[in-house]
Amino acid sequence: MSIVVTGAYGQLGGELCRQLGDRATGLDIDSLDLTDGRAVLERMLALRPEAIVNCAAYTQVDKAEEDSEKCRAVNVAAVEHLVRACGELDCPLVQISTDYVFGTAPASPRPWREDDPPSPQGVYARTKFEGERAAARHPKHLIVRTCGLYARRCDRRASNFVRTMLRLGGTRSELRVVDDQRCTPTYVPHLARAVLFLLGQAGATVPWGTYHVTNGGETTWREFAVEIFRLAEMRVAVRPIGTAEYGAPAPRPLYSVLDTGAYRRLGGPPMPDWKAALAEFFCDAASG
Ligand SMILES: NC(=O)c1ccc[n+]([C@@H]2O[C@H](COP(=O)([O-])OP(=O)(O)OC[C@H]3O[C@@H](n4cnc5c(N)ncnc54)[C@H](OP(=O)(O)O)[C@@H]3O)[C@@H](O)[C@H]2O)c1
Repeated sequence: MSIVVTGAYGQLGGELCRQLGDRATGLDIDSLDLTDGRAVLERMLALRPEAIVNCAAYTQVDKAEEDSEKCRAVNVAAVEHLVRACGELDCPLVQISTDYVFGTAPASPRPWREDDPPSPQGVYARTKFEGERAAARHPKHLIVRTCGLYARRCDRRASNFVRTMLRLGGTRSELRVVDDQRCTPTYVPHLARAVLFLLGQAGATVPWGTYHVTNGGETTWREFAVEIFRLAEMRVAVRPIGTAEYGAPAPRPLYSVLDTGAYRRLGGPPMPDWKAALAEFFCDAASG
């Protein structure tokens, strides 16, 4: 029996497959389109996995605004198909979700807890929240909300903020980066480790339910960019710009820091502070 990892070519799915080694059956769109309900059920009944970790998602937040049907098919309907299969097999489902379910700024900012009421804004965020609700209908579910993922540097397919900064910084001496969104960027190898811990203990010392898992601390995208260029030893001036002035098509939360206390109290692998995690990204790149 193996653990099925969907979205296996993506940032988190790829890392989970790497960490699980032979225990993983990695699937992506070319081997199983999760929006095809019948195909999902047939494949899962044939594989009879010990658990399914759903890392597949429609993750292009801005494009989702004009592609809502496809976004909903991947972020909601696909989860419903997986829930059906998990129900037939009595098999645990891990659904990866997002800080974007908290779309409105709290009156007095404090990190969001798992039981705070979500307020998703925009197509991506709303569909991810609907996906959570679908996953929660399965008794043996873990919903893991996370934030600002960046994969190892050797993951050349990955699309993320760190890679974008390093690419842009290679040709420009000055960049304008949003400075009024507070969140916690998260290094994918750390998150993958935590997800496997939760799955390994689920139903025993880890109750089924929702968990927030990010690196520690909080920052803005501009401050994160400054640290990226410092560690990369690149001379790039990073000027602040506001979310409204930047004018992305999809709304972004101004404050989406997640309270990870529930995860930490379970005693799982530590999630280092965001600066230490970023330093590890550069270390891993240098050694690998
Ligand atoms: N990236 C972030 O900053 C971030 C932040 C918070 C939460 N999350 C959540 O974390 C999870 C993992 O994110 P990630 O960055 O690793 O995602 P990712 O790199 O975009 O990977 C998602 C994978 O799912 C695949 N996929 C899309 N539609 C599919 C379908 N119909 N059937 C099968 N596979 C399909 C994608 O293929 P294509 O590339 O061909 O579409 C891609 O390989 C997602 O649930 C995401 O919502 C991400």
